[in-house]
Amino acid sequence: MNALTRDLKQLVELAEKAAPAEGRFRQRLHLMPPTGWLNDPNGLCQFKGLFHAFFQYSPFNPEGGVKMWGHCTSRDMAHWEYQGTALYPDQPFDCHGVYSGCALVEDGRMYLYYTGNVKLEDQEYDYVLAGREGNTVLVESEDGFRFGRKQLLMRNEDYPADLSCHVRDPKVWKQDGRYYMVQGVRTKEDVGEAQIFVSDDRISWSPLRRIRTEEPFGYMWECPDYMDVDGQKILSASVQGLEGEEWRDRNVYQSGYFYIEGDILGEYSLSQYRLWDCGFDYYAPQSFVTEDGRVVMMAWMGMPDCPEYGNSPALAEGWQHCFTFPREIYTEDGAVRQRPVRELEMLKRKVKGAEGHLKAECPAAWETDITGIQAGRFRAVVGGGLVLTYTGSRFEMRFEGPAGEEISGGRRLRYQEMESPDSVKILGDASSVEVFVNEGEYVFTTRYYPGAYTLEVEADGAAVSLYAVE
Ligand code: FRU
Repeated sequence: MNALTRDLKQLVELAEKAAPAEGRFRQRLHLMPPTGWLNDPNGLCQFKGLFHAFFQYSPFNPEGGVKMWGHCTSRDMAHWEYQGTALYPDQPFDCHGVYSGCALVEDGRMYLYYTGNVKLEDQEYDYVLAGREGNTVLVESEDGFRFGRKQLLMRNEDYPADLSCHVRDPKVWKQDGRYYMVQGVRTKEDVGEAQIFVSDDRISWSPLRRIRTEEPFGYMWECPDYMDVDGQKILSASVQGLEGEEWRDRNVYQSGYFYIEGDILGEYSLSQYRLWDCGFDYYAPQSFVTEDGRVVMMAWMGMPDCPEYGNSPALAEGWQHCFTFPREIYTEDGAVRQRPVRELEMLKRKVKGAEGHLKAECPAAWETDITGIQAGRFRAVVGGGLVLTYTGSRFEMRFEGPAGEEISGGRRLRYQEMESPDSVKILGDASSVEVFVNEGEYVFTTRYYPGAYTLEVEADGAAVSLYAVE
């Protein structure tokens, strides 16, 4: 351990000790930082039975700062235990941030790949074409708690020459005996794409090919991910720079996916881009495969560079942001769906059931299932001011009236055009709501800061059940 690592470790521990342990809006079921700021999920895996999740962590300031990897573990993906900081920005190649990356688990070892961020100092630099390093780094662990030496694998000069300095967020998988890595890139022409690298030994990597859309699609793809869900191949990317009518009422940046027809390593074509989530707070998702073979995904329940809305009630408690509840990604008739991981079922206790209408006070963590919705007749009010409703052509998540304004942190309206919904599942936590429409055909996620946990459902003819989640 060098002197910088030692001091950083001490400072982080001091900040964590000084932080308030209580707070009305601290989440019960969602991974959140002990103090300060959290963004992307990193290094998600199940390793020797235990779930590990790392996160982009800035403990000194809830509004962000230099990034390190915080570390949590869980047995059920609902209750997370903080394990301290795993990786500090303490080397010349990662001194301005241990940026996002992934875990590869093989033969009882954990391999963590990440981006070492460096911003050189000079007024001349634009930090797109000059002045920024995105280094690819590997760290290995035998037990998932002690992390070895950082190995610098690639620098910007090892990447294709037509790329800008923005190359980051490695995600690694193994296929037919070789290792593949996808990274998000911005080309020198300001086009967002995904770069694939190949390796035979996990250490020595070379650029293989570029995955792109036919027409340019945004200027940067962050946190790309490649997954196989029931045989359907999917490329996920968090895209910056989408413009035009289609994106007007959406978030500043998007997280979504393309179906891959063909072979990402051979001939392929990409489908239309589809959003993972239509709500306010969802970015930089990452998937992993559980030991029992499920594809599970978690995302940052937040939004970068978003001045319109925020989380000041959490900031007042000294922290900001959390992850989404882990979702199983599955397909139905070839189309992607999402549902909370099945571990949640073990934690549910039914508190109320009704037909058509239900009005209740909820515990801070709760779930409601509304099934058999008739002709799209559905409206729910959560926390007095968050309205979820189907209007005849679109499903809306809307903060309404003075009560809505009070609890929204500045959020207003998100919607998605769709046919009449059949079912809605809502998962509420102390300061978040996740809404799964039609078994997760569409999902809407938001933070909120309610005065009281109340729920009112109006859905003539539908079955409504309310559960406490413990
Ligand atoms: C996405 C992102 C990544 C980067 C990380 C830095 O939110 O910008 O591209 O690695 O966050 O915290």
